[in-house]
Amino acid sequence: MTRRTVRIAMNGVTGRMGHRQHLVRSLLALREQGGLDLGNGETLWPEPVLVGRREHALTALAERYGLDPQAVSTDLDAVLADDSIDIYFDAQVTSAREEALKKAVAAGKHLYAEKPTATSLDGALELARAAALAGVKHGVVQDKLFLPGLRKLKRLVDSGFFGRVLSVRGEFGYWVFEGDGQPAQRPSWNYRAEDGGGIVSDMFPHWEYVLHGLFGRVTSVQAQTATHIPRRWDENGEPYEATADDSAYGIFTLEGGAVAQINSSWAVRVHRDELVEFQVDGTEGSAVAGLRGCRYQHRVGTPRPVWNPDLPATEPFRDQWQEVPDNDGDEGINGFKAQWELFLRHVALDEPYTWDLLAGARGVQLAELGLRSSAEGRRYDVPELSL
Ligand SMILES: NC(=O)c1ccc[n+]([C@@H]2O[C@H](COP(=O)([O-])OP(=O)(O)OC[C@H]3O[C@@H](n4cnc5c(N)ncnc54)[C@H](O)[C@@H]3O)[C@@H](O)[C@H]2O)c1
Repeated sequence: MTRRTVRIAMNGVTGRMGHRQHLVRSLLALREQGGLDLGNGETLWPEPVLVGRREHALTALAERYGLDPQAVSTDLDAVLADDSIDIYFDAQVTSAREEALKKAVAAGKHLYAEKPTATSLDGALELARAAALAGVKHGVVQDKLFLPGLRKLKRLVDSGFFGRVLSVRGEFGYWVFEGDGQPAQRPSWNYRAEDGGGIVSDMFPHWEYVLHGLFGRVTSVQAQTATHIPRRWDENGEPYEATADDSAYGIFTLEGGAVAQINSSWAVRVHRDELVEFQVDGTEGSAVAGLRGCRYQHRVGTPRPVWNPDLPATEPFRDQWQEVPDNDGDEGINGFKAQWELFLRHVALDEPYTWDLLAGARGVQLAELGLRSSAEGRRYDVPELSL
């Protein structure tokens, strides 16, 4: 085996996503397994270069994980000017992403980025066009598609299990503490519109690729947003006004005619098995998928309830579903790492890769139209995007 090094500038690596999911659970996990086996006698060895605003935090991370202490920088321009850097990765706060990605594409780096890729559709499309023109490789995180629960759901879809898909109902959310008394478990910028926060901009990009990847393109959106909790406390215990939406109630029509309805909220308490669940109902069968598990009920196993509020429920409804087995060992998979592996293969071997900046722009488009729909109280068609 020969080892081939790929140097990856990671910006925003001190944040929740950058640190846990991308550095530790993806790239460091790849190093722990000896690198990525490219299947051609080579292993790809990711060499992170930590980029950010606070040198001491970056150095502390490098020390903690035994990375080269020299491979940290607070100077993005200098890092991008370094010819030994192959890939620029961005997990900064959303509002800082577009400018950094623009610089990286101008420097001829391959790009990999968290979603949303920009704060406006125009910006997201401009990035996709610039990357195409520059001929660099580019990818956008669409981690939910790689999760075990949604892989199992995809297996059902691909097998034709559902017959005609009629509807999809998604329930996402949990209680995010206000920050007084108990600290909030999410960063405060998420609740300030002026800092790129809001649940629509955060979650609609996910719903776009989940719906598109499993059932078909989203063709219209109608949304109602709310800021249910108007006052929160930040990381320093200071109160602030929550200016961004913390909940969104969306209805989406899909190519093929199915209707999807997804509630997203940071102001709900969980009475579900998982923090996100999708129920899919089709003419031949139904399924409920979460992040890890997926249960299904075929037409022939469907009970025939009779509405009678005078009697207790006669059927053990939850027991009448079967688990999709973990045949592929999917349950041990980290969705972020699985997608990184495909992106690195795309860069190293030119293997096809569909989750690119144009796909990322579709997510930004859905968020933008969702917010507009809510502000104007009308439904919007979602035009198909092209470069
Ligand atoms: N794929 C997913 O499931 C998923 C989940 C959560 C968040 N995200 C996305 O990841 C990105 C980061 O989210 P997070 O929750 O890790 O945020 P975070 O606040 O924990 O981290 C933000 C990072 O950006 C850096 N940063 C750069 N400029 C900044 C500025 N002006 N103000 C504050 N921080 C700045 C911070 O130092 C930190 O490293 C967001 O774009 C978000 O939409 C994706």
